Amino acid sequence: MAQRVAVVTGSNKGVGFAIVRALCSKFEGDVFLTARNEERGKAAVEKLKSEGLNPKFHLLDIENTESIKSLAGFLKKEYGGLDVLVNNAAIAYKVNIFIV
Ligand SMILES: NC(=O)c1ccc[n+]([C@@H]2O[C@H](COP(=O)([O-])OP(=O)(O)OC[C@H]3O[C@@H](n4cnc5c(N)ncnc54)[C@H](OP(=O)(O)O)[C@@H]3O)[C@@H](O)[C@H]2O)c1
Repeated sequence: MAQRVAVVTGSNKGVGFAIVRALCSKFEGDVFLTARNEERGKAAVEKLKSEGLNPKFHLLDIENTESIKSLAGFLKKEYGGLDVLVNNAAIAYKVNIFIV
């Protein structure tokens, strides 16, 4: 049976990064930290590796169709699909939002 695989979108920092860290300890399979920026993503992977964890990296910009297709094709080829998707990438407002 193919190795199980989990993907967390927008996980070079913040909540997504923390989810990758937790999955690396608990999930039985490969865990992908994904980011829209390769440098930031790989730096985040290295940080987790320095903690003794072993996330993998793939580029993913959720606003870019080609980027989405590239990851989907990779996952299908290497794993036959996807077992866990944490759809985290987005924005978090850092101030109160008032709607009038
Ligand atoms: N923090 C909270 O208290 C809180 C509470 C409730 C819900 N949430 C939700 O949880 C999620 C994460 O929050 P957060 O506080 O961790 O936010 P954050 O620190 O702003 O991190 C957002 C992450 O999403 C990435 N991202 C943004 N646009 C992307 C795109 N087009 N493609 C790929 N990645 C993209 C960012 O990458 P870059 O570094 O490249 O910008 C970053 O890694 C958000 O959906 C937010 O609404 C957060």
